[in-house]
Order: sequence, then C-alpha cells, then structure tokens
Amino acid sequence: MTLVRFLRADGSLDKEVEAAPGQRLLDVAWAAREPLEGACEGVMACSTCHVIVDAVDFEKLPVASEEEEDLLDLAAHAGRTSRLACQIILTEDMKELTVRIPPGATNWMGR
Ligand code: FES
Repeated sequence: MTLVRFLRADGSLDKEVEAAPGQRLLDVAWAAREPLEGACEGVMACSTCHVIVDAVDFEKLPVASEEEEDLLDLAAHAGRTSRLACQIILTEDMKELTVRIPPGATNWMGR
C-alpha cells in the first residue's frame, strides 16, 4: 500500500489516504474528494489533473511521456515536478507519495 499525502495549494496537509498498487493517482484523489477535475478522465486531453509532486517522490516516478510534458506546458502553475495525476500509477515499491494541488484547482464534476 502507498500512503498518499495530499497537500493544499499553500503546502499545508489536507489528507492522508492509503491506496493499493495499480491505482491511478487521479482515482485516489477523486475517492479522497480532492479538488481535481480530471475532465478528460485520463485520456490526456486536458491538464485539469495537474499536481505538483514532492521533489523526492518525483525522482522515483517513471519519466513523463512527451504527450504528458506537452499538456503540462499548458497547465497553470506548473513547475519542474509537475505531473498529470491520471498518468501516475501506484506501484508496490512506492511507500509514500506526496502531491500538492495547484492553486485554483477545482472539481467542477462534483466527484
Ligand atoms: Fe485529463 Fe489527466 S484527466 S489529462
């Protein structure tokens, strides 16, 4: 299991949840009622699932595809450790994962 830590835009802790390997971070965020829209539901046609990954955890993730990088270029408040939550799949060896929700993120879908 992975301990997923969601931080608010100001860096304060919002929630900690346990999630199983194989789960997409976007689904974990939705289940935790985090304000991530994920409008395209993971087909990489938006960037509304953008999260800022903790620098140490970021290094442990597989590199982003070119498509993902292109979408991140369009995301507001994107930085060096930004990723799309729909592209992060939890793995067995991922014990912890800390991500910050960017400022202005909203879950318009009401999930
Ligand atoms: Fe649209 Fe991740 S949900 S790119």
